[in-house]
Amino acid sequence: KKPGPTVLFIFGGSGDLNQRKLTPALYNLWLDGLMPEQFSIIGTGRTDYSNEKFRDHLLEGINEFSRRKSDGNGSWEKFSQQISYLRMDVDKPEDYVAMGKIISDYEAEWGVEVHVLFYLAVAPQLVPEITTNLNKLEKAKDKNRARIVIEKPFGHDLKSAEELNRLLTEMFDESQIYRIDHYLGKETVQNILALRFANALFEPIWNRNYIDHVQITAAETVGVEDRGGYYERSGALRDMVQNHILQLLCMVAMEAPVSFEADEIRNKKSDVLNAIRKIKKEEVQQYAVRGQYSQGWVQGQQEKAYREEKGVAPDSSVETFAAVKFYIDNWRWQDVPFYVRTGKFLKEKTTLITVQFKEAPKYAFPPEASETWRSNRLTISIQPEMDIRLRFQAKRPGQTMSLNPVNMVFSYADSYDAPQPEAYETLLLDAMMGNPTQFMRGDQVEVAWEVIAPIQETWENRPPVDFPNYAPGTWGPEDAEALIAREGRNWITLPPKRKEG
Ligand code: BG6
Repeated sequence: KKPGPTVLFIFGGSGDLNQRKLTPALYNLWLDGLMPEQFSIIGTGRTDYSNEKFRDHLLEGINEFSRRKSDGNGSWEKFSQQISYLRMDVDKPEDYVAMGKIISDYEAEWGVEVHVLFYLAVAPQLVPEITTNLNKLEKAKDKNRARIVIEKPFGHDLKSAEELNRLLTEMFDESQIYRIDHYLGKETVQNILALRFANALFEPIWNRNYIDHVQITAAETVGVEDRGGYYERSGALRDMVQNHILQLLCMVAMEAPVSFEADEIRNKKSDVLNAIRKIKKEEVQQYAVRGQYSQGWVQGQQEKAYREEKGVAPDSSVETFAAVKFYIDNWRWQDVPFYVRTGKFLKEKTTLITVQFKEAPKYAFPPEASETWRSNRLTISIQPEMDIRLRFQAKRPGQTMSLNPVNMVFSYADSYDAPQPEAYETLLLDAMMGNPTQFMRGDQVEVAWEVIAPIQETWENRPPVDFPNYAPGTWGPEDAEALIAREGRNWITLPPKRKEG
């Protein structure tokens, strides 16, 4: 099934996100035959572009970032005929009138009522102005036909997120607002629901009786690159934990949904967020660790310290690493720690969820058998490896009962020939189809801010004394090791594929 006739406006059309992610996603959807029969994509921005120049700019992005490049057979040329550019100032109401005219012209040309998608790929401070102006546009108010996609960051803290939600829901219906979290569009993330709820094997033991703890690592091997200005207002906790990591945690911890209806899934996730134990301010030091990268050498190259990056204050207190221990106070998860960590310039690029099971009783085995004893562990590699591994004990061949951990592996590459769609392909298609399941509802965003608020506030009020405290190419500050080691556990660093056991 394809979406109906659609006019898609991209605010921030001349920007980075459109060039790197949005247009490549739309192009790949088109190559897969998933775009509507009738569609038009209109990039808007302040830069002066002719349609031709705009398409050339986007083509550069296709050739650099798209999973399928322009193939020389005229595909891009054909697709890009549907792309145009509208120069506009977001603070000028008359420019929105031009948008209304464009929509009516397409309706007249195609002879149908169209769906309209407004994609706000812009700095967060522009969102109130743009949406207030859109609200004056008859076509944007039609709750059955118009949708607004909003990129993160959605607010800066609980208060600003509440204000933004209030403003948006005064003007539009909640069902029209698509708050994007691109992690939810990743294949491997969506597969968590299939793994948990389409198999009889895992769900019965997916609880505090069998699981010792859960870990989520989202590590990057690059620094803040040219986003220093943005990152100074954000930091790792806001940039990754409040959204992507808490959403991954929800996927692992939620109860079984009764259906795949958008609100059913979102209710189950909200239940998890609401059950996360609020960390008291005086406990923050016990539960959360922050770090900032220093200068150093990575693979023979000298890297700048965070404080030397463009747009960053020389005495910045902003964290580029965060590790937190969460508890979920409900029947399923009471007292099971969820350790999460994320950071820039870490040792490896990896997003990994580890479910560590409790130890089986060892007493029947001879003592030497247990020397290599390892508890069961399920590792879900989200990226760049895409696989799921279940570690269990096997008998090492030979005349003695000697044990050895081995893995059962499901790898996407070995099981499926077809390449995986990118997260933005999935999410843009969902938005065009009017399916908000993989988008954040307003209340989820607010609770997620509430969860991190005590950490955020404590860190802001107590500037760090030891920054910078980790070298690029390491696993972050020593305190992050201590956070988990003092409870007799350790971070799972490498996908087991590359590591014995
Ligand atoms: C973004 C953050 O939301 O996610 C970035 O703002 C981060 O700082 C990025 O690099 C990571 O996304 P991915 O898909 O590369 O893991």
